[in-house]
Amino acid sequence: MIRLEDIEKRFPGQARPAVDGIELEVPAGETCVLIGPSGCGKTTTLRMVNRLIEPSAGRILVEGEDIAGADPVRLRRRIGYVIQGVGLFPHLTVGDNVATVPRLLAWPASRVAARVDEMLSLVGLEPGEFRDRRPGSLSGGQRQRVGVARALAADPPVMLMDEPFGAVDPVVRARLQRDVAEILRRLGKTVLMVTHDIDEAVRMGDRVAIMRDGRIVQCDRPERLLAAPAEPFVADFVGADRGLKRLALIPVGEAASPRSAPAGSPTVDGGASLQAALAAMLAAGAEAAAVAGPDGSAIGSVTLAAIRERARTPPAAQSPAKTGCSLATKAR
Ligand SMILES: Nc1ncnc2c1ncn2[C@@H]1O[C@H](COP(=O)(O)OP(=O)(O)OP(=O)(O)O)[C@@H](O)[C@H]1O
Ligand SMILES: [Mg+2]
Repeated sequence: MIRLEDIEKRFPGQARPAVDGIELEVPAGETCVLIGPSGCGKTTTLRMVNRLIEPSAGRILVEGEDIAGADPVRLRRRIGYVIQGVGLFPHLTVGDNVATVPRLLAWPASRVAARVDEMLSLVGLEPGEFRDRRPGSLSGGQRQRVGVARALAADPPVMLMDEPFGAVDPVVRARLQRDVAEILRRLGKTVLMVTHDIDEAVRMGDRVAIMRDGRIVQCDRPERLLAAPAEPFVADFVGADRGLKRLALIPVGEAASPRSAPAGSPTVDGGASLQAALAAMLAAGAEAAAVAGPDGSAIGSVTLAAIRERARTPPAAQSPAKTGCSLATKAR
């Protein structure tokens, strides 16, 4: 669990605080994404959690402990940190990079070696092929994977990620987002992540907090953020195509019926999203698609009309207590 209580940060010589009264809770095992325009205070917020920056006011709890009293070095060993451009040590091999924190923790060499290979495999890099290479010989996406492996190596319960995929091209990036989100969920990590990219936020976040001028203007589940932006700034930020983005979050089953599709309809997998079903229909010029079960046989169908209907239904609101986010109430 990560909890920020009325956090403020004023840098010396700045007219306005960089972070201005943030309240945020990331429950254990969840990913919360901070997003907002450049300079709105995302990185400052993140870096206060591992005490690379000290807050001017407020309290931060990590796993229930007020970090103001924690030793910063020991705190950082419990918190994985991934940043854009990775910050790998260029003169060390990939394996030695991943081994950094376990060695600081004085793990026995055999345990470190096993852990390095386990982490490289976890992020999809064949240990035999990558262990002894240097970061300079890797692609941007591979380097980013090593950065994630390094941050996970000592099994920290909490991860901070600042634009972790910022330097990677869009195709590789989408794959990385999916893979890393899956790994973080499977390992049950509590994650606070920063991005500029709303698609990344929606794909990776259990909740997304939109920031502006040092404050959180809306914090919600992605589906709800897209369906019910709290103010015009949020609507602008999530974009004019938010209806389509939202469809990407809804499984096709939520609009499917057991009826069979007309002959000539495309088929979509039962695990696909409504956006994928819509794309298949548009590509085939069809008004319906067959929905296939795990064994590939048709189990029902979805129609354009049903997708339209589902898109119109906003997801139920949750109380702030339930979403774990609340808006700062302090007056400006
Ligand atoms: N060490 C510092 N001294 C003074 N001002 C700072 C310092 N670090 C950040 N700031 C200011 O605080 C504000 C928030 O910066 P921050 O880096 O948190 O923004 P950000 O949301 O991460 O932006 P970006 O998306 O561009 O990375 C900015 O106005 C920035 O100039
Ligand atoms: Mg930043």
